[in-house]
Amino acid sequence: MRAALFTGTDEPLVVEDVTPLPPGPRDVVVEIGASGVCHSDLSLIRGYLPLPPPIIGGHEGTGRVVEVGKEVTRVQVGDRVVASFVPACGTCWYCLNEQSNLCDYEIPALLAPRASRSDGGTCMAFTGLGTFAEAMTVSEASVVKIESDVPDAQLALIGCGVTTGVGAALNTAEVTPGSSVAVIGCGGVGQAVVQGARIAGAARIIAIDPVALKREAALQVGATDLVDPGEADPVLQVMSLTGGRGADYAFEVIGLPETVTQAYTMVRKGGTAVVVGMARADAQITLSPVRHLLLREAPHRQQVRLRSGAPRLPALRRPDRDRPSRHRVDGLAHHRSRRRERRLPRDGGRRGHPQRHRVTRPRTVTRENRHP
Ligand SMILES: NC(=O)c1ccc[n+]([C@@H]2O[C@H](COP(=O)([O-])OP(=O)(O)OC[C@H]3O[C@@H](n4cnc5c(N)ncnc54)[C@H](O)[C@@H]3O)[C@@H](O)[C@H]2O)c1
Ligand SMILES: [Zn+2]
Ligand SMILES: [Zn+2]
Repeated sequence: MRAALFTGTDEPLVVEDVTPLPPGPRDVVVEIGASGVCHSDLSLIRGYLPLPPPIIGGHEGTGRVVEVGKEVTRVQVGDRVVASFVPACGTCWYCLNEQSNLCDYEIPALLAPRASRSDGGTCMAFTGLGTFAEAMTVSEASVVKIESDVPDAQLALIGCGVTTGVGAALNTAEVTPGSSVAVIGCGGVGQAVVQGARIAGAARIIAIDPVALKREAALQVGATDLVDPGEADPVLQVMSLTGGRGADYAFEVIGLPETVTQAYTMVRKGGTAVVVGMARADAQITLSPVRHLLLREAPHRQQVRLRSGAPRLPALRRPDRDRPSRHRVDGLAHHRSRRRERRLPRDGGRRGHPQRHRVTRPRTVTRENRHP
């Protein structure tokens, strides 16, 4: 089968024929219908993550199950599934304690070799998925069965961007009705945070992004105020919009140390800062507890919550074209790449469209070209 591989830092993805390794007893083979492109894919290519190439790219996708291992119980051949970049094994401590978003199986899933190359070497698949391919062999823990008539290109986005953003607002921060929310970075995931805040009933949703198109898109999905960080200090702008108090919640959705600090600084006393963005592995943030304790007066209760990607899908389990959930996925998928191109927005989407890049499937994989 053909797959797009990360083969070296800052190198373009290489599309080549690889031979999938046979599925294990709890693995399933999924024929990919569509794959989204997340900023984390770009971070992989830029070498921000300590992961050795070669790796099949992509971690946001949907498709149909075409083969199951003999111990698989969760899905059957023919099921439509959304891939989850964090598996939920169902048996580790976290899964048993209702925190499957922190499942211990994540690292083993990530490290599993999934295909061999013509030189005999093997490659892993990004987050254990590898959606930039005609098919993927994944653990059954990494897929969620879904019944929906939403088209593949929209459904794929639920695999990462939509669920991460909406989950950050609803599950991680538990945004309350009437509250004020600042969202720093309004790309694919940030737009979903805005939508999550809207669904939660936030009264003020301040969308912060230097790109006018992204701010406009945020307005369409629920932002009430727009901030251009290029115009003036975004922290001061948020302070001014919140009567000098600061926002109840601030979300960093870029992955830069300075904007993490901004999120922490723009929340009110007792507010909640949530870090959604994934910074490069060696990045550090510096926060001054004394400054915050003294200047913002005790009690000091800002919370920084990391790892908010929570691909539990309760609010989104039944996306439906005719009876849509309150989250809109229809406008988010904007750009179709032909599979041969495998282009990623090299600028991180700064100048591009406000919504998300996606790749759709041009042809069917047969059993013969899936694995020999
Ligand atoms: N926590 C998780 O599990 C998880 C899941 C998915 C993505 N992510 C991370 O979330 C981040 C966002 O992903 P995405 O796909 O939405 O990226 P994206 O590239 O689509 O969006 C980033 C946005 O940030 C804006 N931006 C850049 N500099 C800014 C600044 N100084 N102030 C305000 N806005 C600024 C850009 O204009 C862009 O709109 C990435 O770091 C990605 O790796 C994390
Ligand atoms: Zn992602
Ligand atoms: Zn688990």
